[in-house]
Amino acid sequence: MVNLKTTYLGVELNSPIVVAASSISSYIERVQMAESAGAGALVVRSLFEEQIALDQLHMEQALSVGAESFAEATSYFPNIEHGGASEHLMWIEKTRKATSMPIFASLNAVSLDVWATYARQLESSGVNGLEINYYSVPTDPDKPASAIEKTMFDVIEAVRQAVSIPIAVKLSQFYTAPANLAQELEKRGVNAIVMFNRFLQPDIDPDAEALINEMVLSTPAELKLPLRWTALLYGRTKMEIAVNTGIHTGRDVIKALLAGATVAQIAATLLKNGIPYLSTMILDIQNWMAEKGYSSLDEFRGKLSQKNCEDLFGFERAQYVKLLTEKR
Ligand SMILES: Cc1cc2nc3c(=O)[nH]c(=O)nc-3n(C[C@H](O)[C@H](O)[C@H](O)COP(=O)(O)O)c2cc1C
Repeated sequence: MVNLKTTYLGVELNSPIVVAASSISSYIERVQMAESAGAGALVVRSLFEEQIALDQLHMEQALSVGAESFAEATSYFPNIEHGGASEHLMWIEKTRKATSMPIFASLNAVSLDVWATYARQLESSGVNGLEINYYSVPTDPDKPASAIEKTMFDVIEAVRQAVSIPIAVKLSQFYTAPANLAQELEKRGVNAIVMFNRFLQPDIDPDAEALINEMVLSTPAELKLPLRWTALLYGRTKMEIAVNTGIHTGRDVIKALLAGATVAQIAATLLKNGIPYLSTMILDIQNWMAEKGYSSLDEFRGKLSQKNCEDLFGFERAQYVKLLTEKR
């Protein structure tokens, strides 16, 4: 009998499949369905600083400000489904009561004091860990990469000081030196890295000559980048690695584990195929393990990481040169 149990962020999970921060967490029945289908844990969609600002506006409105100024202010945040921070915290508590799998919160803020204050509030909602959804678009030409990373480290330090639960950092794909960045995060007490976040990019409609901002789900081809960086970092950091973006099937989860992932986070495949599809993914992993004679994840986790792989250069430059110079 194969055993899919693993530990992640200090808790035991029944399987290595974690439901990524997404709209799935906005419906209790979907969360319960994911749990019965075999999900190991859930990341609740992020609490955004804009929601926190809305809560503060609510409070000011109650104290003195006229009703019309609140309606105006909500239009400052056109892309956020409005619901303040307190509503978010209550939702987490409700979700926790309705499920028995571990639950992680996610926070996306801007100012340091908001990061620290709301990290603390999320911790007090009883979650098992906190995912830092760090997102900035580095458009300032006067700000070098080192300054951008310093701003990020300030946030990590503030959150690490504020809470004692395990923390994970969800990384952007766009860092100059991901290996060094990982090392710096580890030094600051980060327990896991999620590789990688997937940012929505606007498209362009040539007919309308306008921008298109719509939700386009990931494709399996997007898994290669997280897979590569997981394989490169596995065994070289004490932090756990959650692979994210482009995991659509049970075989994709197996690939992530072979590269060295502790867990695989998924959203798109559940939104596309329906939540019960998670049980097919679990079955595919179990069947593959049985076929290969594995009874636990540890027996093959990281087997194809750069550290353990016979093809030492498979993830590095040499392979690139070889492929490009081959005659076709
Ligand atoms: C509808 C939707 C909502 C999302 N909301 C969040 C969020 O609140 N916070 C976050 O960090 N990521 C959010 N994400 C990103 C996912 O957590 C994940 O990183 C991304 O979808 C890539 O994984 P996938 O390829 O399995 O979809 C969202 C994704 C979707 C599709």
